Amino acid sequence: MVSRVIPVESFDLVIFGATGDLAKRKIFPGLFRRFLAGQMPKKSQVVGAARSSLSQKTFNDLVENSIKSFTEINFRDNDLKNFLLCLNYIQIDANGSKGWNELKTALRPKIIRAFYFSVSPSLFGSLAERLHKHEITTENSRIVLEKPFGRNLKTSKQLNAILAEHFTEEQIYRIDHYLGKETVQNLMAIRFGNMLFEPLWNAQYVDHIQITVSETVGVGGRGEYYDHSGAMRDMVQNHLMQLLCLIAMEPPARFEPDSVRDEKLKVIRALDPVAPHHIVRGQYGSGVDHPDYRTGVNNKNSKTESFVALKVNISNYRWAGVPFYLRTGKRLKARKSEIAVIFKEKPHSIFGPEAGNHQNALIIRLQPDEGITMDVTIKEPGPGGMRLIDVPLDMTFSETLGIEENAVPDAYERLIMDVIRGNQTLFMRGDEVEAAWAWTDPIINGWVDRNDVPKPYDSGSSGPQDSLTLLEREGRKWREIP
Ligand code: BG6
Repeated sequence: MVSRVIPVESFDLVIFGATGDLAKRKIFPGLFRRFLAGQMPKKSQVVGAARSSLSQKTFNDLVENSIKSFTEINFRDNDLKNFLLCLNYIQIDANGSKGWNELKTALRPKIIRAFYFSVSPSLFGSLAERLHKHEITTENSRIVLEKPFGRNLKTSKQLNAILAEHFTEEQIYRIDHYLGKETVQNLMAIRFGNMLFEPLWNAQYVDHIQITVSETVGVGGRGEYYDHSGAMRDMVQNHLMQLLCLIAMEPPARFEPDSVRDEKLKVIRALDPVAPHHIVRGQYGSGVDHPDYRTGVNNKNSKTESFVALKVNISNYRWAGVPFYLRTGKRLKARKSEIAVIFKEKPHSIFGPEAGNHQNALIIRLQPDEGITMDVTIKEPGPGGMRLIDVPLDMTFSETLGIEENAVPDAYERLIMDVIRGNQTLFMRGDEVEAAWAWTDPIINGWVDRNDVPKPYDSGSSGPQDSLTLLEREGRKWREIP
């Protein structure tokens, strides 16, 4: 498989929070990979901006180390040297006046300017205001933001309002890195690039849909942030919501930013409120090499969930009556993200009741081992009558397409290049984020009002027993987390 690299125009990219974790783990290694691929023009400039007073040499060393630690491909020293020539470091005070004039002078006229706010959301407002006050933004400028976009509807509205004072919606790129994943985009290709699936993609043929994002990691060093958020805010309100939208939305007229985002928004607005008995929350216990959740976040009374499973209904013409079961959690049995579309039983079996129940299923594996599997029913070979078995038609993308390991751009690489190209298709619009909070708020407020305490679950398990019951009482079953 030959990938097609279309170089973007040269740009000036300013990374606020350039010494932070995200910049080290994702942004610099991602830019370097695009540089190696020939997509990032050599004349581009990457300005690292942060609070610390660093010499250019110290900053370059920091970037070099991050690239060596987090770029999982081989490269020549000379390429790294050339990439480092694009770097510039400016010490900047996000809440004061230091550094802003230097930044203004460093940026070149008539070139795309992108400002990546890789900082705490509490600084978004000050950064936006200062960029404006110092006349650093031009018509050709955009800003890139990381979640969380507020903690609830009220704060997300406030944040959007602050940004709107200085930037148009077309200049604001809200990252949900799940949208940058190759296989997540493939959801749209599978649905809208094939004639086969779309006619069956509705309540007449689909029994239910399962969306699982399971992780083996715990909260790690992010205890304080996580305990303040929980799985609902950290994963469901954004990543799982985006997956749900892509699976459930109507075909957009075109693969263009607002056509796609309009359709996603309609799905979010059609979500029913979730009844308390359709939600299960959990908190992980200790494992051989890690403490339990509460010890990990240093809060022995924490009522924050590290697991959540819920049944969601979409009240629209296509999906009325089809449950969508969502689950995500940390310290589970395996790292696995997949979407399973389980089709209904046939209206009549010509093979009689002894042939058993057989439901077709389409499984879209998002990570790891990206691919699709279709469970189809066939005759079990050999004598003994018409015995039916379900077998998988399995396609693993890397094998079928001959993709070498690490050849596919990481989500951040793709998204940063889209920012430079000015393509917002894979970014969240302000109204989408607000609609997602409007649906999430009553769920979280309900937990607070009821003083809800998450159920404990064993590390390395599939989550609390109650999450299995959520489906079993409706005659259904979660797919195994292998
Ligand atoms: C982040 C969450 O947005 O996504 C983390 O804050 C989570 O808690 C991560 O671990 C999962 O992303 P990925 O790409 O590893 O599936």
